[in-house]
Amino acid sequence: MPSVLKKFPNDPLPVSIVGGKGIYLFLQDGTELLDFTGGWTAHSVFGMGDQGLKDAINRQLDIYAHLDGNVWTNPLLDELAQLTVSQAPEGLNKVFFGGCNGSDAMEQAMKLSYHVHHDSGNPTKQKYIYRAQSFSGATLQTMSVSDLPILNFYNPIKPGGYIQIPEHNYLRLAHPNETQQEYLDRCANDLETAIIQNGPENIAAFCGETMMGALRGEVVPLPGYWKRMREICDNYNIHIILDEIYCGMSRPGEVYCCTYDDFTPDFIAIGKGCAGGYAPISAVVTKGIFEDVIANGTGRIQLGHTFAGYALGAAAMLETQKRVQTPEMLLHVRKMGQKIRSIIDSELSDHPFYVETRGRGLNSAFEYHCDNVHGFSLSLAQSMKSKHKILINAKWHRTTFTPAFIIDDSIVERVLSAYVNEFKSISRSWSGVIDSSVNVSRALGGVKPGA
Ligand SMILES: Cc1ncc(COP(=O)(O)O)c(C=O)c1O
Repeated sequence: MPSVLKKFPNDPLPVSIVGGKGIYLFLQDGTELLDFTGGWTAHSVFGMGDQGLKDAINRQLDIYAHLDGNVWTNPLLDELAQLTVSQAPEGLNKVFFGGCNGSDAMEQAMKLSYHVHHDSGNPTKQKYIYRAQSFSGATLQTMSVSDLPILNFYNPIKPGGYIQIPEHNYLRLAHPNETQQEYLDRCANDLETAIIQNGPENIAAFCGETMMGALRGEVVPLPGYWKRMREICDNYNIHIILDEIYCGMSRPGEVYCCTYDDFTPDFIAIGKGCAGGYAPISAVVTKGIFEDVIANGTGRIQLGHTFAGYALGAAAMLETQKRVQTPEMLLHVRKMGQKIRSIIDSELSDHPFYVETRGRGLNSAFEYHCDNVHGFSLSLAQSMKSKHKILINAKWHRTTFTPAFIIDDSIVERVLSAYVNEFKSISRSWSGVIDSSVNVSRALGGVKPGA
C-alpha cells in the first residue's frame, strides 16, 4: 500500500520519468517524449541534464548545501542580486531572497509593501487590489489575490482584505465598438473606483501578473495600460506588485516582462525558471529606498524561512541568469516565440475555431473556440502525446507554448506541423460556435501587441 497521499486519490498514478536529455523525457515504459511545455509549468529553461547547471550545483555542494542567511552571508547571493537587477526597470536595485516557491515571493512582496507603508507612517494601508482571472499562488494570502475557480473551495478560510476588480482583457471585456483608448479609460476607472470606495488610506498595493498568463493564457496588456495604472497608484500612494513568476526572467524575450510596458513597479516577484528548474529559489526585486525606510523605521524585516536564499538554488540561478541574460539568448527567445505564433496564424487563422494568437517571447498562447472547447483541448493534447510523442499544454480555451529556451527552428517546425495537422483533423469531430464573449473582428488581427 503506497504511503504517498495522492493528489487525485481516484486516479491511477501517472507514469514515472526515468531520465531525460534536453527537451526529451524518457518514460518508464520506454517512450521518449518531446516536452514543449518547459516542464509542464514553464520552469524549464535548458531542459534536462544540463551540464552547466549540474556543475554549478555541484560546486556549491562542495562548499555547503545551505546555511541560514540570518547568521551567515553567502557572497554568491550578492553577485546574483547584482546580475538580477542589471536589466531591471530603473529604480529597482535590490533583491530580497525570501523563499523557494513563487507563492513565497508574491506573499513576501505583499508583506514588504505593508511594512514599507507602516514604517512610512501609514499603518492602515493593509488591503490589496487584484484582478479577476489572476493566479498568484497557492498559499492562503496569494490565493486571496487569485481567481482560480478550484481555489474557491478555500473561500471560508481565506483571510479578508482583498478587493477584486475586472481583468484587463480587451479581447473579451471590451464593449462592441469600444476603442482601445476607451477600454483603457474604463480599466483605469475600475481601479480608481475600487481605491476610492475602499479608502486609499486602507490600500497597500495593486497586485497583478504583468501579462495575465497562468489562467487566461498570455493576455498582453494594451500599450499604456501599466503606465496608466502607475499614475493612479502614485496619486494614492499605493504600491504596484507585479507577478512575473510565470512571465518573467527572460521567458518573454526581455529579462523582465514589464520592460515592454516601460514603467517601474515597486516590487516584482520572480520564481519558477529563474534557476532553470534545477533547484527551488524565488525572490522579490524592489527599491533600495524601501530598505532605507525600514532601516529608519522598525529596523528589520520580520520575515524568515529556513530555506530563504537556498544556496543550491542560488548557484543554479546564477548559472541560469548568466546564460539567459544575453542579447543573443533574448533575441533567440523572441524569434522562437514569433515563429510559433506566425505558423499558427498562417496555417489556422482561417479555421472556424480560431480566435487569436498572442504572447511575448516564449510565453505564447493560441485561443480557439468550439462547442466543447475544454474537451477539444484535451483531445488535442492526448493525440499529440499518443500519436506524435509530443507534450503540449492544451486546456480550457487555449494551448500555451512555453518550451525550454533550447529549442531551434527545426523543433518548432516539427512540433507545429504535428499540432496544426492534429488541430485540423480533430476539429472535424467538434462543432464551431460563436463565442459571444469574444469580439471576433477584434480577435482577427485587431489587436496584436506583443513581441
Ligand atoms: C503567475 C503565477 N504566479 C504565481 C505562481 C505560484 O508559484 P509557485 O507554484 O512556485 O508557488 C504561479 C505558479 O504556477 C504562477 O503561474
